[in-house]
Amino acid sequence: MKINIKNIITNMLSKKSTDLFIAESKSTELKKSLNIFDLLILGISAVVGTGIFTIIGSAIVGSSDGAGAGTAIIISMLIAALASLFSALAYSEIAAMIPVAGSAYTFTYAAMGEFMAWMVGWILMLEYAIGNITVATAWTGYFVQLLKGFKNILPSFIVSFPLWLRNDFRSMYSLCNKYGWDVHDKMPFINLPCGIEIPIAINLPAIFIVLVLTILLIKGVKESTRVAGLMVFVNLSIIISFVVVGSKYVAPSNWIPFAPNGFEGILAGTFIIFFAYIGFDAISTAAEETKNPQRDLPIAILGTLTICTILYISVALVLTGIIPLNNIDTQAPLAHAMRVIGKNWYAGCISVGALCALTSVLLVYQLGTTRIIYAIARDNFLPQSIMKVHKTFKTPHIITWLSGLIVIIGSLFMDLNISAELCNYGTFASFVIICVEVLILRKTEPNRHRPFKVPFCPLFPILGIILCSCFMFYKGISGGTSSLYFLLWIIIGLAIYIIYGYKNKRLKQ
Ligand code: ALA
Repeated sequence: MKINIKNIITNMLSKKSTDLFIAESKSTELKKSLNIFDLLILGISAVVGTGIFTIIGSAIVGSSDGAGAGTAIIISMLIAALASLFSALAYSEIAAMIPVAGSAYTFTYAAMGEFMAWMVGWILMLEYAIGNITVATAWTGYFVQLLKGFKNILPSFIVSFPLWLRNDFRSMYSLCNKYGWDVHDKMPFINLPCGIEIPIAINLPAIFIVLVLTILLIKGVKESTRVAGLMVFVNLSIIISFVVVGSKYVAPSNWIPFAPNGFEGILAGTFIIFFAYIGFDAISTAAEETKNPQRDLPIAILGTLTICTILYISVALVLTGIIPLNNIDTQAPLAHAMRVIGKNWYAGCISVGALCALTSVLLVYQLGTTRIIYAIARDNFLPQSIMKVHKTFKTPHIITWLSGLIVIIGSLFMDLNISAELCNYGTFASFVIICVEVLILRKTEPNRHRPFKVPFCPLFPILGIILCSCFMFYKGISGGTSSLYFLLWIIIGLAIYIIYGYKNKRLKQ
């Protein structure tokens, strides 16, 4: 068989026209039910979560990976918000111009062609599915914290949830080392031939919450965003009341020194706290289910970012003002701060708020995963049989189950930090690409109607590209397992494209 390289390259660069995408989305079976309020809820519920309830602690104090920013975390937050803003503006321009499901994947197909589109879709799956694994794992942690709060009421076997039933091997091994216990007495193992032993890991709380949310998502997007709305209401109330209650106890002397680790600390803080900003792009993944995408998408994306930045900076100022930097907790910083000022009951409320926040992030991320897989399968890069829409609920039920299963399997063995870092990589990469696309589409489709335009173009997209690339470079040179995993993910994506995607795309055209 003769291989025609020129043909292959032409195929790989073949674009799908913007008009075709829009026509396809008009004939879509997905229900068009979301309005601007639903989108804002979707955005806030995707963004407010682990970042502000947990990661803020290590961003301020520092971790084994880097110095903390101190009170200057507010500068880190502004830098992270700025990088997100450039990408948010870019998302808004393209999402309003091409209002179809699939987020950056779809936009890339229109701007850069088939191969890059598949790779972007593959990277987005990393961002959403792996991000969801991180949040599901964190959910388990908060759930166990909450159970501990009821230790006087609940039976002790429930309160002391076995570590192997919540995939906390690290604690299990370190406890066994510390007390000289035999780890085999404490958790079960599968014994394979040749003396190979595999520890059994089950993450019951994560499995439970993912199953509940999968069923909810199959029942319908509108119903799911209603639940997310309820959660958003609870966790926003908790955050606002933290600011209001805590502000009475702020001692400005705690804000000094403002940046104990200088610029290095601010940069490290920015990298960590960026996780708190991930998620607003989930809004654009619901474009096909939005009633008036042209008007509502840009408003919802920018609105989400503004609300979250104001909240985050307020929380950071109160947290660093209440207690001296060195006393800030890294596991549950907000709840701990409330205990320090003697508000124990309120610390419990914060755990409930954190669980709500994580639940809504999970919900939105799973919605994002299903919609991206849907868009990719529609273009034949994955088997179309998985796209079936449920007869009654009009939702892609097979893909929804599939995305739930990915999270359940991942939460059985993945480490929270590594999955968070992988998720960051996916996000930075998609941000860079979306900014590049704005520049390309302005050249290739100058006359297409743009209900929203990035101001100061090309300066803003270029700044977005530079900032996000710097974050990726910064993480890459500081090394770590996640860089290797990211590379591995890219190689697997390439292999799937070569073995399945390229061929099937043409067969079914
Ligand atoms: N921004 C989301 C969170 O903080 C991912 O959990």
